[in-house]
Amino acid sequence: MSKDKILYQGKAKTIIKGPKKHTLIQRFKDDATAYNKKKHKIFKGKGILNNRISEYLMTHLRSERIPMSFIKRINDRDQLIHECEIIPIEFVVRNTITGSIAKKLDLKEGIKLKKPLLEYYYKEDSLDDPMISRDHVQAFNWATKKEIDKIDKLSLKINTSLKKLFKKKGLILVDFKLEFGRLKSNRSKVVLADEISPDSCRLWDIKTNKKLDKDVFRKGLGSLLAAYQEVASRLGIGH
Ligand code: TMP
Repeated sequence: MSKDKILYQGKAKTIIKGPKKHTLIQRFKDDATAYNKKKHKIFKGKGILNNRISEYLMTHLRSERIPMSFIKRINDRDQLIHECEIIPIEFVVRNTITGSIAKKLDLKEGIKLKKPLLEYYYKEDSLDDPMISRDHVQAFNWATKKEIDKIDKLSLKINTSLKKLFKKKGLILVDFKLEFGRLKSNRSKVVLADEISPDSCRLWDIKTNKKLDKDVFRKGLGSLLAAYQEVASRLGIGH
């Protein structure tokens, strides 16, 4: 482990130099943070669960021709990925009202949206990731119009695909956050990056609306590990 060259230390993942040019290793940590790190706790084994869940979801999306940085899971903690330049925007897709939008606009929790809502947040911890518009993204050259158009299309396709997948497993995909980047080996190619896991999605049980995601930690609703384990089991991911 000591020979690993750490390139970036994130809140829930570490990025390490990869074995080949234009590759990286993303290592899933056990840290859970919320409210811009105001809340922080370590849950032993969370990283292993997220690594497996994200591998499962990325593999499913790859079968539906979503371009991505994910190459393969290489062990309990690590994934081999294509190196990319991350676009500094969090792309949020919402199907049901809850979380920050319910608070900001004083909306009733749990209302299903007629069509998915796409939102953009500028990734900057010092500013608490402010919500921005498509025009901001272009005005400040965070991404081109062509790139955002492509990302919107991919986000909606990912939403349709994952909503269907989770429904089959008795889960509602309430909302989620995606990240996209430009491949280092070909900057004109925009790909899905980062992870998709209960850290970055809201998942509710279809019958009871029980929360099975990071809200369990954010709101202190019980065992985060039990919730993540439940998601893994529903997806048929063994220990
Ligand atoms: P929000 O309701 O807090 O804006 O969150 C919307 C979705 O985005 C939810 O599934 C959680 C996810 N998310 C992240 O993964 N990282 C973040 O930093 C934020 C703010 C939200």
